[in-house]
Amino acid sequence: MFIAMNRFRVKAAQADAFEKVWRDRESRLGKMPGFMRFHLLKSGSLGEAVEFVSHTTWLAESDFENWRVSDASRAAHSGTTPVKEMLLGPPEFRGYAMIMDQATGERTDFRSAHMDLLVEKTFAIESSVQQVLREWGEESGLPPIRIGAYEGRILECLLRSAGARRGLEIGTLGGYSASWLLRALPEDGHLTSLELDPRRAERAQAKFNELGLGSKITVIAGDAKGLFEGKLKDINNLDFIFIDADKASYPLYIDLCVPRLRKGGLLLADNAFIWGGMNFLGMDPEKLPPSLQKGYHEYSRPQFEGMSEAWKKLATHPDLKAVILPTGEGLGLAVKI
Ligand SMILES: C[S@@+](CC[C@H](N)C(=O)[O-])C[C@H]1O[C@@H](n2cnc3c(N)ncnc32)[C@H](O)[C@@H]1O
Repeated sequence: MFIAMNRFRVKAAQADAFEKVWRDRESRLGKMPGFMRFHLLKSGSLGEAVEFVSHTTWLAESDFENWRVSDASRAAHSGTTPVKEMLLGPPEFRGYAMIMDQATGERTDFRSAHMDLLVEKTFAIESSVQQVLREWGEESGLPPIRIGAYEGRILECLLRSAGARRGLEIGTLGGYSASWLLRALPEDGHLTSLELDPRRAERAQAKFNELGLGSKITVIAGDAKGLFEGKLKDINNLDFIFIDADKASYPLYIDLCVPRLRKGGLLLADNAFIWGGMNFLGMDPEKLPPSLQKGYHEYSRPQFEGMSEAWKKLATHPDLKAVILPTGEGLGLAVKI
């Protein structure tokens, strides 16, 4: 890992313009291979100058060098007022090569948020479809509750290893996870995705049509629980089902989904750790701390009870062999036997 640190003394009158130029760099940096993180710190005013310090973190020093000589870097430094005209004196540069020292981390299992990021940047490269869907979801104001690229790549690999052709998703939102599922399917593969919110469903289907994927996915609006006996009543022998909807209903979804899978088919369930709530598995709900009983952070007691029951079903179901993959959010993985 390599951190490039720059200290700048900026003419006070140019401080806002400088900050804007430097922040705009972030979008350019995000496209560079090996880029990990950018921080800009601003001190108080020092008379005629304002001091800024930027930290840019790269996987390797060579990635930083590539950025320095790139067109994107040159463009970031030009503009109506070139950066060098905003400064008092030359910038002070330091580069630090760092080895991640696991011994100083708070974890003992060699996994860290940093490691997740590394895995994502190294393995989970989004296709153009995924980039479009991610940006579209953000711009159109959908809540930030989609899976990450890391989980997407895990789903894709699992589906490919199962030779998946036809599957079901519960919880479409803006189609981001669906795009990873679709990526694993062959040309004639098909995904049905269920979404409670009719507007989300309609917009996701329209977006997939626009992206030329309309024939591979059917988004159905409605409550998944009712759809199994309605529009889905003749769907069987599925290669996979991915559940990513209301957590309290996961036990019911497991009951509804298992009969619809073929032998060897995969049942996948996101958020199996319910944001840390599963640390309390096995605890009498009446004895949970009061904050958990009425809902704590993102999870609530119905979600806790639902996920606890779902774990029990996954662990003991006679037709399943299951485990929870320790992704950040926990991914339930079961194979129908
Ligand atoms: C976490 S988001 C899904 C994110 C999506 N899988 C992704 O990663 O891109 C959950 C979605 O499930 C939908 N949902 C909640 N309850 C549902 C139900 N009973 N039936 C169908 N969809 C439901 C919500 O409206 C929401 O859009």
